[in-house]
Amino acid sequence: MITGFPNDFLWGAATAANQVEGGYNEGGKGLSSFDVVPYYEPEIRKNLKVLTTDVTEEDFRKNKTGGAEGNFPKRRGSDFYHQYKEDIQLFGELGLNVYRLSISWARIFPDGLSDEPNKEGLEFYKNVFSECRKYGMEPLVTMSHYEMPVDIVDQLNGWESKETIHHFVRYANVILNEYKNDVTYWIIFNELNMTVFSPYTGAGILQERIVSENIETAKYKAIHHQFLAAAKVTSIARTINPKFKIGCMIARLENYAATCRPEDQFTALQDDQLNCFFLDVSVRGKYPGYMTRYFAEHDIEFEITEEEKRLLASNTSDFISFSFYNTYVAKYDDTGTRVSGNLVDSEPNPYLKTTEWNWPIDPLGFRITLNRLYDKYQVPLFVAENGLGANDILEESGYVHDTYRIDYLREHVAAMKEAVKDGVEIFGYTVWTAIDLVSCGTNEMSKRYGFIYVDADNYGNGSYKRFKKDSFSWYQKVIKSNGEIL
Ligand code: BG6
Repeated sequence: MITGFPNDFLWGAATAANQVEGGYNEGGKGLSSFDVVPYYEPEIRKNLKVLTTDVTEEDFRKNKTGGAEGNFPKRRGSDFYHQYKEDIQLFGELGLNVYRLSISWARIFPDGLSDEPNKEGLEFYKNVFSECRKYGMEPLVTMSHYEMPVDIVDQLNGWESKETIHHFVRYANVILNEYKNDVTYWIIFNELNMTVFSPYTGAGILQERIVSENIETAKYKAIHHQFLAAAKVTSIARTINPKFKIGCMIARLENYAATCRPEDQFTALQDDQLNCFFLDVSVRGKYPGYMTRYFAEHDIEFEITEEEKRLLASNTSDFISFSFYNTYVAKYDDTGTRVSGNLVDSEPNPYLKTTEWNWPIDPLGFRITLNRLYDKYQVPLFVAENGLGANDILEESGYVHDTYRIDYLREHVAAMKEAVKDGVEIFGYTVWTAIDLVSCGTNEMSKRYGFIYVDADNYGNGSYKRFKKDSFSWYQKVIKSNGEIL
């Protein structure tokens, strides 16, 4: 029997460019889609017409001029753009052997549409990778983590247009070539399934601008275009460096049927199919039969050509990566109170405690997910995100006592270890996040995930100095002992 983590297990932590970098208009970078999404006070948030991660047509137009009034925390991030050397040094001290980060498309192609890449942008990431190597850290790169140049939104309505494939493939081609000796592991799209729940976040779609028959068609067309782009990029990557490992990613929405009532069980099955659909296409290389029915029943129409089918079939992913934060409850006649989750909410599970942001905590659900995904797809798994968002307090002494985060991570790492013993092939785990950054869902700095505290608030006040939290030394020991000391 396997007794613990393999010796070459990749222990790490993650960030995303739009949430951590800042320097939104420096080094030749163009505005990206999240640079125009403002911070809304919690009271305003309750009555918003759109999700906090989406933006209205009116706000988009106003804010994309760059000089908009208001508070845009993602333009500041955590100031990684200026402090990356010190930050990566801290990641080295933490002992990470993998650092998952994303490249900002708008830093490489400022307007997304022109042919020439921005040299300063390319150089920035080259320097980041060389800092990683200095500390023996493998960079794992997400090509597109919820952002794109605003002009792609403006001119093409993001991924709704087929033309976006061309622009993305050009960008991917440049970074694959540029970093062919610096990076081995790539994830093409962050959480591809999120387009269904937040079309602006996942696909740069402004709902008032769709040209498709209906929003459902626009979303699934955009997803299809992303599948095609991923297949093209995978095929190019294999010619550039056969050692590249190319992964797909979903936000895993593991769910339990509310009861043993067959209707609840069937709802759980259907919810799971809608989540696994993204893996079916990415790993098995074809659209599953249940989606043909789903499309017909939801008036979703778009063309999939024979040539596209061949492209998908011959360029499947080497590994599955996913984020896991919580589990959900599936109920046939779902009308009750809700708990939150990663952009999706559900009925509460009476057996689970929740976080400050009302996300259920379910380490055993994590073990279930690892087993289920591996049983089904039989390809190596990489846990790209798992972590706890909390309102950490920086004490005057400079300490942050985040025992709740240690508890959360300890239980999840223990569950992952059990899954390894169950025979699941997992090659790495990156905690969300290495360092505090701006929350994706709420644009808050105060929803913190990091091992390192950043002294900044929701309005950009603060010194932006870094402080190690208690979880920093806890994770250091976990890595050093290869998951033996929890
Ligand atoms: C994942 C995203 O969905 O969830 C991250 O990939 C995000 O970008 C994370 O930050 C946590 O969500 P939130 O809304 O708490 O930041």
